[in-house]
Amino acid sequence: MKRKGKFKYTVSRCLPCIFIEFTDNTIKRVITIILDIHSHILPGVDDGAADLDESVKLLEALFEQGVTDVVATPHFYPMDEDIDSFKDRIGRAYLRLWEKAAGRNLPNIYLGAEVLYYRYIGNSDAVKELCIGKTNYMLLELSENSVRNGLFEDIAALRENQGITPIIAHLERYSRVPGYKKLLKFLSQEKIPAQVNASSFFQKNSAVLSEKLIKDGYVNFLATDCHSCSARPPLMKQALMYISEKLGSEYSSGFIRNSQIMLEVIKDSENEKQHA
Ligand SMILES: [Fe+2]
Repeated sequence: MKRKGKFKYTVSRCLPCIFIEFTDNTIKRVITIILDIHSHILPGVDDGAADLDESVKLLEALFEQGVTDVVATPHFYPMDEDIDSFKDRIGRAYLRLWEKAAGRNLPNIYLGAEVLYYRYIGNSDAVKELCIGKTNYMLLELSENSVRNGLFEDIAALRENQGITPIIAHLERYSRVPGYKKLLKFLSQEKIPAQVNASSFFQKNSAVLSEKLIKDGYVNFLATDCHSCSARPPLMKQALMYISEKLGSEYSSGFIRNSQIMLEVIKDSENEKQHA
């Protein structure tokens, strides 16, 4: 058990959870479930885990961080591949990892994608295949010219034509994108959810902005965007502690609760599709 600031916490190896000891000596089990909605854990499909061994190491690291459930979100680059071949490729990688991880104390894995925004993304029905599990939520990565190229129109089309709500991946990364302020205003007005990377709180150039985005109410999800145990490791536990201490425990608890709600949405959508 470590002591830091007002809190004592521990993450159990067998049953991931965080215990917070308050100053009046009461102990509350605050977390039982944490979903990480953004990770590159599938073996050999993108710039994340290079092979099955690394995938398992990442799952172990996530589990040690208290992550009980994780969405694998390999990069989908529309200029490189069509949706069918992407789904086929990542589906096979997912099965390999699922078989390797089965029966072990590791997070449950769900399938999604980190979709790079492209013009007219909302016009094709096939894009539904890129959502998280069987939900209508899709992790959307922006590029430098997204706002200039018609992002707002396309998000409206995604919602209206396909019923898909995008979750903007690592919102803190686009501060140099032309139209960033307009983007923030649009996301807020349209109630489009966004995510920040756990690692951003430990990088000089993104920590301040990440904190500001959270305080200003633009961020709904905290995720690891982990790629490997060495270069881009999962830092969920550290980020939750950092946020709790720096911004207040209501923010860290809020991220955990939102992840739990998203997990419920994933499970509900699986059940609905099974019974449809
Ligand atoms: Fe990513």
